Amino acid sequence: MFHRNLTDTELPGYVQEQAARFGQIVVMLAGRTVTFTAKGKQFRHSEQKNTLTERAVRGNDRKKRYLLQEGEEIPALVDLGVFTPEYQVKAAMYDKYKQINRFVECIDDALRGTDKTQLTLVDFGCGKSYLTFIVYYYLVVKRGIRARIVGYDLKEDVVCRCNAVARKYGYDGLEFFVNDVTRGTPLSGGVDAVMTLHACDIATDYALAFAVERGADYIFSVPCCQHEINGSIRPGGDFDLLLRDGLIKDRFCALLTDSVRAELLRSRGYAVDVLEFVDFAHSPKNVMLRARRTRPQACPDDSRVEALMRRYGFTQTLYGLLHGDAH
Ligand SMILES: C[S@@+](CC[C@H](N)C(=O)[O-])C[C@H]1O[C@@H](n2cnc3c(N)ncnc32)[C@H](O)[C@@H]1O
Repeated sequence: MFHRNLTDTELPGYVQEQAARFGQIVVMLAGRTVTFTAKGKQFRHSEQKNTLTERAVRGNDRKKRYLLQEGEEIPALVDLGVFTPEYQVKAAMYDKYKQINRFVECIDDALRGTDKTQLTLVDFGCGKSYLTFIVYYYLVVKRGIRARIVGYDLKEDVVCRCNAVARKYGYDGLEFFVNDVTRGTPLSGGVDAVMTLHACDIATDYALAFAVERGADYIFSVPCCQHEINGSIRPGGDFDLLLRDGLIKDRFCALLTDSVRAELLRSRGYAVDVLEFVDFAHSPKNVMLRARRTRPQACPDDSRVEALMRRYGFTQTLYGLLHGDAH
């Protein structure tokens, strides 16, 4: 499917060309439907009335409506360097803005299904925390939901800055902590959702394991730099061809990592969708694991993952954590 604008002079030639290609073209206009047919060199048309009415032509380049619009007064995003002081997206931040908007849409869609009045969300590897802020702003300020949102990152300076911005705008439920998530996550109380956006390599696995252990209802995870399997896999069977060339091996191992993660979550009671959350052009790391807990974890069956691990000799941190490896 595609959209294309044609001028009046281009249109007849285009229709004729396409009719020759497809045999028949149906053009819907206000009040009449015109059918063009081509047979050999013969080109005919016939008309029938219809009930369509004239509509304003808006063109194909309409601006996408985001949940958080450019121009919306979100001063924290100015402080974080996403918006200019006029609340316009900075050119260099456009891809990030698109990612975080789409991420908020996914969270919003999922959370509309919950009847909880107080939510706790945790962001692993929050970095400069554009996402964490925007999720807080959307849920708490815009939708009036009571939420506690906690961000963890290794970097002391960014955590300090994020806390300062949160305090400046009175975002009381938003807190950031310096924490290496591979060494444990000291958060008390229940957790409703865990999110990660490009948390490096196995930091994502620690986030997923945390979500499973705490029985979080929702997981939104966009992984990044999945190096672990790439570093440990060895030839062992039908996939060997995919391990031969570095570039293909790298991509294959990233996909294998996320397939293993999805499988482990499924066998622990989560319904998992694997989706492209933004177009590749806006981030090549664009695969999201979106999971919703639909049943309590009973006796997880990881046999399919185990068979692959045995055969190809790779290690995978989420598997290890869910099977009792130390945090
Ligand atoms: C690529 S950045 C993404 C930041 C942010 N989520 C975003 O999308 O803008 C990855 C972040 O993960 C953090 N990180 C990596 N390993 C971590 C760990 N073990 N514990 C906590 N944070 C970690 C890094 O410090 C970095 O800020």
